[in-house]
Amino acid sequence: MSVSLFARLPRTALYNLTTRGISTTAPLFHASSQEKIKRELTEDEKQLIAEIIRVDQAGELGANRIYQGQIAVLGRDKKLRPLLEHMLDQEKHHLATFNDLVAQYRVRPTFLWPMWSVAGFALGAGTALMGKEAAMCCTEAVEAVIGNHYNDQIRELLKIDHPDVEKLRPILKQFRDDELEHLDTAVEHDAHKAPLYNALTQVIQQGCKTAIFICKKV
Ligand SMILES: [Fe+2]
Ligand SMILES: [Fe+2]
Repeated sequence: MSVSLFARLPRTALYNLTTRGISTTAPLFHASSQEKIKRELTEDEKQLIAEIIRVDQAGELGANRIYQGQIAVLGRDKKLRPLLEHMLDQEKHHLATFNDLVAQYRVRPTFLWPMWSVAGFALGAGTALMGKEAAMCCTEAVEAVIGNHYNDQIRELLKIDHPDVEKLRPILKQFRDDELEHLDTAVEHDAHKAPLYNALTQVIQQGCKTAIFICKKV
């Protein structure tokens, strides 16, 4: 802390610092943490973070639309509706968080926003029309891919030592846990009894992986 700053501190504050053994001439922050705060993210790191935020925002949009599609078809089922609404509420929170991050980091959202919106709703409504087990199969398949995808991102971010990333990582961990809770809910509600379970899972998961790949860049 500079001398001029101390000149502006009240005498009692200076007394409190010196009597507690804190030097008034030494920096109050450890040098390494000061460097961490000051360090700019590299271009590669910025690009990685932008990719993560863009793809996750698009993914959460897709998830919102899937659950909205399921509710549009299965909403009259008194047992299923609260379950689907609970998952949708969590997806709304995930999307709102990434919307904020997009603004904060000035990330360009995916150009394919309208397409993911339509595709998500069609997937949710389409599988729900095949029956509630198929809807749950869809949820299990999607959330398995998304859970793994969040895990990959959390691992990637471990390579970056920066305060911004330290704030981002717990968000991804929380959302990963929510997605895995959705997966468990789907399994508990007969996802494995869906007609053509294996084929349906494979098609949906391949679609999700392709969407993730495209959204990283476009
Ligand atoms: Fe989500
Ligand atoms: Fe989810």
